[in-house]
Amino acid sequence: MAILITGGNGYIGRWLAHELLDHQIDVTTFDRVPPDPAAKPDLPASARSVVGDITDRESFIKICRAGDYSAIIHLAGIVTMGCEQNPDLGMRVNLGGTHNALEAARLAGIPRFVFASTISVYGPDVEQPMTEATPARPLTWYGQSKLMAEQLGLYYQRRFGLDFRAARLAAIVGPARNAASGSATMYTSLIIERAALGQPYEIDVDPEAGTPVCYAKDAARALATLATAPSAPQRIYHVSTGLATADGLIKIVKQRVPNAQFTFKPDPQLAPVSRISREWQLSIAAAERELNWRPAYTIESMVDDLIAIVRGEKPG
Ligand SMILES: NC(=O)c1ccc[n+]([C@@H]2O[C@H](COP(=O)([O-])OP(=O)(O)OC[C@H]3O[C@@H](n4cnc5c(N)ncnc54)[C@H](O)[C@@H]3O)[C@@H](O)[C@H]2O)c1
Repeated sequence: MAILITGGNGYIGRWLAHELLDHQIDVTTFDRVPPDPAAKPDLPASARSVVGDITDRESFIKICRAGDYSAIIHLAGIVTMGCEQNPDLGMRVNLGGTHNALEAARLAGIPRFVFASTISVYGPDVEQPMTEATPARPLTWYGQSKLMAEQLGLYYQRRFGLDFRAARLAAIVGPARNAASGSATMYTSLIIERAALGQPYEIDVDPEAGTPVCYAKDAARALATLATAPSAPQRIYHVSTGLATADGLIKIVKQRVPNAQFTFKPDPQLAPVSRISREWQLSIAAAERELNWRPAYTIESMVDDLIAIVRGEKPG
């Protein structure tokens, strides 16, 4: 089996490449930038990498036709801050790029398409608890572009029979986390990582910030599951490890690293956005029931694992 990952040289893509290769699935990444050998985790040497831009439809169709892929996992995208700073680019890549990828899958006869969506499709004052049927009314360009891309994927499924599936991923937490285009939830990783490194950390949101999070390893396994599960009747699934708040994470981290040092300097743009998801109760029952996927980690065991990786006590 062979899978093509767009945006595969990015943070989630590299975790996913390891996950797929561990299951003897061939991996090709398609990304605007070549793999960075210094990135952590690195892109495994056995993954093939093609450099290209998802906004260039013709080139991507050629790549799709050149392999015998059973699925595309579409991660290429611009995240929250990148979309706020340049909404035109956000729409061109997140919506237009997804259209190109869907069209290429259809023309090249690739039967399955897995899309990395986001819980940012929900806006403020969302009703609780949240299932995938909860009305999605995004407030950010990022959330809006991803919601429209999801809708386009469902349209390709209805119209052309493409087996479209999407993960509404919670904010990703992991070691050496980065986002090429600027994430609003980096604090959830950095609170843990900086403490493990013994570095003081000035947090760019306020203590009331909170969000459902997903450990990078749980996210990679969920995307791999979506690409290989025999069926996915609901098509769109929440994927999360649990709810994390800035003050809650600090408490858990200080139990493990008592001398960890934190101060708050809220960014006026980030702080209001980062508070709206603090109370979100995100149901992952559909993924458990239909895909047999559940997180392997809790918030506490995620913190332990991340600290161990950062300290070099286990491979990351
Ligand atoms: N990180 C999160 O918290 C999170 C949460 C939910 C969903 N997602 C989604 O998961 C996907 C991957 O996110 P990530 O955290 O790995 O971000 P990332 O920025 O590390 O990876 C995105 C990759 O897409 C590539 N890319 C951007 N524009 C491109 C283009 N025009 N053509 C080809 N490649 C392009 C980038 O070079 C990068 O390698 C994104 O679509 C993001 O919206 C991320």
